Amino acid sequence: MDDSLFSSYLDKPSIFKNKNILTSNYIPDKIAHREEQIKQLASIVAPALRSYSPNNAFVFGTVGTGKTISAHFVMNELLTAAKKNKTVPIKTIYINCKMKKVADTEYRLFARLLKEFDCVVPDTGLPTDVLYRKFFELIDKQEQIIILVLDEIDALVSKVGDEFLYNLTRINTDLTKAHLAIIGITNDLSFTDALDARVKSSLGEEEIIFPPYNALQLRDILMERAAAGFNDGVLEESVINKCAALAAQEHGDARRAIDLLRVAGEVAEREHETKISEKHVDIAEQRIDLDRVTESVKTQPRQSQAVLYAIIKADSDKLGSLLTGDVFDKYKEICTNNGLKILTQRRISDLIAELDMLGIIHTKVISHGRYGRSREISLAIEGTVLDNVKKILFDRFGE
Ligand SMILES: Nc1ncnc2c1ncn2[C@@H]1O[C@H](COP(=O)(O)OP(=O)(O)O)[C@@H](O)[C@H]1O
Ligand SMILES: [Mg+2]
Repeated sequence: MDDSLFSSYLDKPSIFKNKNILTSNYIPDKIAHREEQIKQLASIVAPALRSYSPNNAFVFGTVGTGKTISAHFVMNELLTAAKKNKTVPIKTIYINCKMKKVADTEYRLFARLLKEFDCVVPDTGLPTDVLYRKFFELIDKQEQIIILVLDEIDALVSKVGDEFLYNLTRINTDLTKAHLAIIGITNDLSFTDALDARVKSSLGEEEIIFPPYNALQLRDILMERAAAGFNDGVLEESVINKCAALAAQEHGDARRAIDLLRVAGEVAEREHETKISEKHVDIAEQRIDLDRVTESVKTQPRQSQAVLYAIIKADSDKLGSLLTGDVFDKYKEICTNNGLKILTQRRISDLIAELDMLGIIHTKVISHGRYGRSREISLAIEGTVLDNVKKILFDRFGE
């Protein structure tokens, strides 16, 4: 039995005590270093406990700064306090606008809101203003305060515009019994710049900023998770500091810090080691980037994939830097071989700019004085990541 396939996994103590705690989906009981923001948000919604409508609010902060968990925490506490004190009914609704098929169109958003009040409408077909009216009638049936949290609101606005927000904020003026307060959460710090002035002033009655975590704060967050998620003695001391430092460099993202720590544990476990060390964090970092890049390449539209493949092919053909023209020639070949429509060079330039934003390539605009400008393109990925991407694209487009 001791020579069985799995014996090497069983005879060593395991690294993880509870891996779930080391995922970024896990909701911790304590939210460290966000006391200020939590207090602010609580003070904004607190009037609900006295039957007044809270102000609308915007919550800003880059990814992984604790916005979502803090909002959940405050809403839960509010409901607990409301229950204890027998206030006017308070209902909180949380919607993540990035969820596909849930709230990625105005129609779906309202369908989802109606569902909160047990009103089911068909997936498509009705005019949006019918849904809007239904929602209005349903909530105004009784005295109540509704707090609607729209998380990742920038995703929805960039897709469908801000009219729905205007409609939602207008609702209050017509409601007679109920009140609606909206809390919009966004990762995009310049989100409000593009909003209609009326929406901006009405939703921005209150603003809360979630700053990035620094390395010391990330360290505290990680220590808490590590104590509950790993078995005793498996962590070398420097590991947490390293994860915290790396994530602090990447705009203080707690999600990244936690992912690094968990994946480092997985790497150590796979190598049958009993302790996690800094080298496992290095491997974890590479692996996370690999996953991120391959995932984003896989989910790109076909045209963009064809452009990227053209860049990779042109890059291996040519010494020195690439120009849009070099890429365009390869791109046309790929399209012809694969029955794809050939887009204009102008559109290709746009797709190239998008690939740059994803961090897969670098581009640099070079001015040639009166001869105009051109764009120099180079790959931002190398090694295994590049090999992986090549394979994905080869499978899709062939040689
Ligand atoms: N202060 C904190 N204490 C403990 N864990 C945190 C804290 N901030 C963030 N996290 C962890 O990081 C993850 C990302 O946080 P989240 O609230 O989703 O960030 P955001 O919404 O700002 O992108 C959470 O699931 C949680 O596990
Ligand atoms: Mg969030």
